[in-house]
Amino acid sequence: MRKKLIVGNWKMHMNVSQASLFLHRLQEKVPHYADVEIVLTPSLLALQPLSVQLDRRKFRLAAPNAYFKDEGPYMGEVSFTMLRDLVHYAVVGHSERRIHFGETDQIVRDKVAAAFRNEITPILCVGETQVERRAGETKQVIHDQVTTAISHLTTKEVESLVIAYEPVWAISTFGGIVAKPDDVKKEMDFVRHQVHELFGPKAAKEVRVLYGGSVDDHTAAGYLSLEGCDGAIVGGASLNYEKFAKIVEVAHQLHGSESENT
Ligand code: 13P
Repeated sequence: MRKKLIVGNWKMHMNVSQASLFLHRLQEKVPHYADVEIVLTPSLLALQPLSVQLDRRKFRLAAPNAYFKDEGPYMGEVSFTMLRDLVHYAVVGHSERRIHFGETDQIVRDKVAAAFRNEITPILCVGETQVERRAGETKQVIHDQVTTAISHLTTKEVESLVIAYEPVWAISTFGGIVAKPDDVKKEMDFVRHQVHELFGPKAAKEVRVLYGGSVDDHTAAGYLSLEGCDGAIVGGASLNYEKFAKIVEVAHQLHGSESENT
């Protein structure tokens, strides 16, 4: 069985000393669970200092963004090459980058490729806006986002990939409608179905599909118990170490009960 993956997405919160103090508290609060992988996504600036403080048995790091060229005259950017060996993962295609920074499906595709080229596993975010959902375009949007981002990859790469289905309307900063788990299962299944269509049954089985959008310590269990949901990507609630620790615990408890039933 795949481990549950819980990603804390801190976005543009906490400077280096705040992030360091927060990590200190979180490390005290969260035990090591062999069945849950916990990933933290601080600001780019905090990655290096946190990497030396991090208990690697408990946590892994993800970059919140990077540029798709490996090096060159690209003022102000940080490349995936520079992040190599520092992070396991990178969040790519997050809706806040698509909406505020104009990232297109093609840019997202290039970032996914750059991550793999530098031995970093992308956490590819996909999801429709409220307007697109109301217009009945959800499947088309997910299809285009997933297909463009992954069709050039190798099967082996896709097997290790993480795809987070994050409906934009459910993200706290864009409306934060708390989706009923049953209302998003269809889309998560569709993401896996897309992988099946492009890369076959093994890749569809191995790829990890997460849910994101207003997940907190009260709602986490509903999403994490969906069949085919491998974890969650958590924004606002990951900035509260008590809540985030509870979400991790929920993942551990659900995983334990699943193992007993199988
Ligand atoms: P919230 O959990 O604050 O809705 O954010 C979700 C998100 O954007 C995670 O990537």
